[in-house]
Amino acid sequence: MAESLLLPLVRGVASKAADAIVGTVTRMCGLDDDRRTLERQLLAVECKLASAEERSMTNGYVKSWMKELKSVAYKADDVLDDFQYEALRRQFKIGRSTSNKVLGYITRRNPLLFRFEMSRKLKNVLEKISKLVEEMNKFGLENSVHREERQHPWRQTLSKLDDSTKIFGRDDDKEVVVKLLLDQQELQKVQVLPIFGMGGLGKTTLAKMVYSDQEVQKHFQLKMWHCVSDNFDAIALLKSIIELAVNKRCDLPDTIELLQKQLQEAIGQKRFILVLDDVWNEDKRMWEDVLKPLLCSVGGPGSVIVVTCRSKQVASIMCTVKPHELVFLSADDSWDLFSNKTFSNGVEEQAELVTIGRRIVNKCGGLPLALKTMGGLLSSKKHVHEWKSIEASNIGDNDGGKYEVMPILKLSYKHLSSEMKQCFALCAIFPKDYEMQKDFLIELWMANGFIQEEETMDLIQKGEFIFDELVWRSFLQDKKVLEYPRMVVCKMHDLMHDLAKYVSNECASIDELN
Ligand SMILES: Nc1ncnc2c1ncn2[C@@H]1O[C@H](COP(=O)(O)OP(=O)(O)OP(=O)(O)O)[C@@H](O)[C@H]1O
Ligand SMILES: [Mg+2]
Repeated sequence: MAESLLLPLVRGVASKAADAIVGTVTRMCGLDDDRRTLERQLLAVECKLASAEERSMTNGYVKSWMKELKSVAYKADDVLDDFQYEALRRQFKIGRSTSNKVLGYITRRNPLLFRFEMSRKLKNVLEKISKLVEEMNKFGLENSVHREERQHPWRQTLSKLDDSTKIFGRDDDKEVVVKLLLDQQELQKVQVLPIFGMGGLGKTTLAKMVYSDQEVQKHFQLKMWHCVSDNFDAIALLKSIIELAVNKRCDLPDTIELLQKQLQEAIGQKRFILVLDDVWNEDKRMWEDVLKPLLCSVGGPGSVIVVTCRSKQVASIMCTVKPHELVFLSADDSWDLFSNKTFSNGVEEQAELVTIGRRIVNKCGGLPLALKTMGGLLSSKKHVHEWKSIEASNIGDNDGGKYEVMPILKLSYKHLSSEMKQCFALCAIFPKDYEMQKDFLIELWMANGFIQEEETMDLIQKGEFIFDELVWRSFLQDKKVLEYPRMVVCKMHDLMHDLAKYVSNECASIDELN
């Protein structure tokens, strides 16, 4: 079946309508019902679009309908952009953790006026799209299957390792965890296995390795990945798990009793694996009395929940199987990780650099995030004196085996150009674990005047260069190219997000970092 050229556009707008940060503002403005209707209408259109495209070849009426749809989709996109900007502006205002200069573009507005204006614009778009859907329903078009093939486009989560990530020294951990998971198959009750260890050690990475292992993929009938972060709210969590299980966005009730019924229907007797990434909840009763009974009462024999967390206490509250403690990388694996990054970009692996490099690696204490960031930094330094100067910087005190990743991240930040510093800091306005769109980020950087043209690069090229550089240096990560709608997205490690917030805070001047 022919693929509609409009499809990527409509999908993009539907995803934006489903975006969590757009939803926060529409809720605040009392316009969330309209937003949800818009999302549903766009989804309805999306299902029939391939069929409409075919019909338009021979039917002038459908052709002109598609033309109108294109114009309305662009209007809807503009309206949703306004909500997105407003969400970022409000977050900045409430958090007070991002400096004024970062968000010059997003001007202050009167909330009442904003609500009034947006209500009018949203209703106008909604009216137009509803008319189009009404007309469309008379065409007798077929549903296309594309929607079902998509992977949770609305969810700000990522369970796959990005292709460019080379993993060092975790094969044994992976083998142990995979075996443990497969070994539970005779057990009737859902088992919970936490993986714990300090920030930046590679818990999420290990969980991704395990999750995408072929045997694991084959063994479990239902695979679900959810990033929890600081939102351990039972209702939100249950809703998310139900949506993951049925692989689509749903209108779900707000009571635990009703959700429990739907959870039962969605999972039934399927053998499932659920990864709860980045759990912080230390409230034992919340887990024991509310969530555990619900999550552990569904699924077939051998079902498991894998939890990643920094805290040993969280691990001990949640576990039914002995938690897997992740340890620091060995000296050899640390060196391999570091040198693979450092010497892959034109810096020669000469003896003197290797000697200094080994001492620097030692200071990173086997922490992958620190090693990767340090590697990214040194890959831009060719000279021995530059390496020596970095070695001499205060990159944490590891006396007594107490390693810290933050001083290393700050050092790497200090070596960014001033343009890149601003561009990086702006990312603090997005929520943690948010999937950021490259084009949108570049637009924000340009609109704020953070990037300047150069002789050989226009503004967009410069923005792309900065984006790639921030990815290379691990300030941004998990870069991937989405097919529908075609776009490049990335995330930020949560410790990098902390750093972005820290540097954009008015109290943290560049001097302080120096
Ligand atoms: N063994 C490894 N080899 C190479 N890179 C790694 C390895 N482990 C982790 N990384 C990289 O280090 C960074 C931090 O890893 P990860 O996000 O898995 O840490 P984490 O323990 O989950 O941290 P947090 O507690 O903050 O969630 C990521 O960019 C990841 O790609
Ligand atoms: Mg993690």
